[in-house]
Amino acid sequence: MKYAFSFLAVIVLILIAWLGSQIPGMQYFFGVAVPYLAVMVFLGGFVYRVIQWSKSPVPFPIQTTCGQAKSLDFVKHDRLESPHTTSEVVARMALEILTFRSLFRNTKSELYDGPKITYESSKWLWLFALIFHYSFLVVVIRHMRMFLNPVPAVIELLNWADSMFEILTPSLYMTTAGLIAGVLFLFIRRLTNRHVRYISLANDYFPLVLIFAIAVTGFLMRHFLRGGIDIVAIKELGVGLVTFHPVISSDIGSIFYIHLFLVSILLVYFPFSKLMHLGGVFLSPTRNMKNNSRQVRHINPWNPDIKVHAYASYEDEFREFMVEANIPVEKELPPEEEAAVDEAPAKAEE
Ligand code: HEM
Repeated sequence: MKYAFSFLAVIVLILIAWLGSQIPGMQYFFGVAVPYLAVMVFLGGFVYRVIQWSKSPVPFPIQTTCGQAKSLDFVKHDRLESPHTTSEVVARMALEILTFRSLFRNTKSELYDGPKITYESSKWLWLFALIFHYSFLVVVIRHMRMFLNPVPAVIELLNWADSMFEILTPSLYMTTAGLIAGVLFLFIRRLTNRHVRYISLANDYFPLVLIFAIAVTGFLMRHFLRGGIDIVAIKELGVGLVTFHPVISSDIGSIFYIHLFLVSILLVYFPFSKLMHLGGVFLSPTRNMKNNSRQVRHINPWNPDIKVHAYASYEDEFREFMVEANIPVEKELPPEEEAAVDEAPAKAEE
């Protein structure tokens, strides 16, 4: 049901863009208004989430470590697993972000008759996750050619390198194939691995189906429906969007509006979904803190300046009233004040 719902949602989105973009005058809505709105929600939502995370108190050092912390000189310190300095933290983070190091240690467990449980290394997830993320990154960078005029040499070079095997005409980009293969693997894994399937929600399937649809519409546009789009008008629109002078100079073709609409939905969905791990990985205290709690006392930098009211000063403030109410006190009143307190009930009776 959960994945069927995601498919249905994406089909509805495709229909909206396909039918909507054919209504005269609606091209401007799908080509300009929706993308602008989507970028605003994306940026606003992203900044909002990052600010919320940055404001969260971190009352304890909670870094995850799985190696020897820095200790006495003769005890070998594991610099990557238990980073003690900022540069060690940066090294651990860089390896995690650039190579998905923790995913490399992924294992799978199987239960056999006996009962007997086995654990074995499982590298496929790591491999396809890397292919998926790097392909996505390169596809997005390559798309800059549609928004920049002239196209920077580095993007031209990336374009050339990505399509150098010259399979199909026009050449198939390796990252287009990587993106589709990656997203398919991640989706099939969710369906076929019963542990993962059990914990998967619609919010796990939806982004995969959405990204798959974006990649497939892009692929179709380049390789099969090339005649149906006006690539010059697309470039004009792309450059117009980033320079705030958008124009739609011809009938671009519905497949382009579908592609663009799905991308806009992805942008709107992004900040409010698990896709925010893009920003979150940098802000995760379990990863970005140093394990130096033996040397430095951790004080949460957001702690409010609390005015402490110790018992001694509390008693100083209320001693007279406490004595009057016969509450035991640690420090007696000076004799003259005690006399005044003793006389007070008598006066009250008069
Ligand atoms: C999350 C963002 C996006 C993703 C993942 C994505 C994905 C893809 C993929 C996989 C292709 C196949 C060929 C290639 O890789 O170049 C493609 C083609 C294409 N995309 Fe996108 N796209 C995105 C955003 C956009 C945007 C914002 C535009 C609007 C200008 C756009 C316009 C196009 C066009 C015109 C093509 C055909 C390119 C060609 O024929 O060479 N895409 N897209």
